[in-house]
Amino acid sequence: MSSIKPLIAGNWKMNGLRADMDEFAAMAQGFSSELASKADAMICPPFTLIAALANHPDRGALAVGAQDCHPAASGAHTGDISAAMIADCGATAIIVGHSERRHDHDEGDALVAEKAQAVWEAGLTAIICVGETEAERRGGTTLSVIEQQLAGSVPLGATSRNTIIAYEPVWAIGTGLTPGTDDVAEVHGFVRSFLEGRFSEEGTAMRLLYGGSVKPGNASELMLVPDVNGALVGGASLKATDFLGILRAVS
Ligand code: PGA
Repeated sequence: MSSIKPLIAGNWKMNGLRADMDEFAAMAQGFSSELASKADAMICPPFTLIAALANHPDRGALAVGAQDCHPAASGAHTGDISAAMIADCGATAIIVGHSERRHDHDEGDALVAEKAQAVWEAGLTAIICVGETEAERRGGTTLSVIEQQLAGSVPLGATSRNTIIAYEPVWAIGTGLTPGTDDVAEVHGFVRSFLEGRFSEEGTAMRLLYGGSVKPGNASELMLVPDVNGALVGGASLKATDFLGILRAVS
């Protein structure tokens, strides 16, 4: 058994209006001290809800994060949001390099690394995402793709406190498909060795999340895979019953 406390992080993506704060309140109320003793939990809403959720009177131990940030701390970048602004709203972590950012906005590893640095400079934790496409998996290049993304996206200076890695196969995101547990074990083992090679004991202690179609029905088997220290959850983090179901499956 790993001594790393699991984290279940929900990524609401471009979903969530003020009316959905009730759903957040239901999650927070259901995140009992018994569940919280076994796993940490976080919701990453759109920017527009960060402050409201972070200051929600029922928030309790449910942490709040963000889904992206600009690499600069401030300046002439119309429409962008900096890590310092996100920290100022009460969030404690920021996802960077999510595949939807990499693909929809053409974000490459160097930019993801700059964003991770910006997250650290704001005193927050970076959740850095990596993952292969379906064509890369079929072509047998999964591990080399992951190695390249880790080498380019995780800056020197990463520690188990300022960085979390999320392995999210692109073809598993939002599709209902998940890799076999052997495949997840292979990639997570590879990620762990890479991190240990680069960051020694900090790499051993770093949390590695699996993401891609995690739901209450498959969470327990995925969370039992060696070197899986939690999940990054999209669709199933929008409803309190599903999100709490995943948390219960971990414990
Ligand atoms: P999904 O998304 O759980 O809806 O597959 C996961 C993610 O994109 O983080």
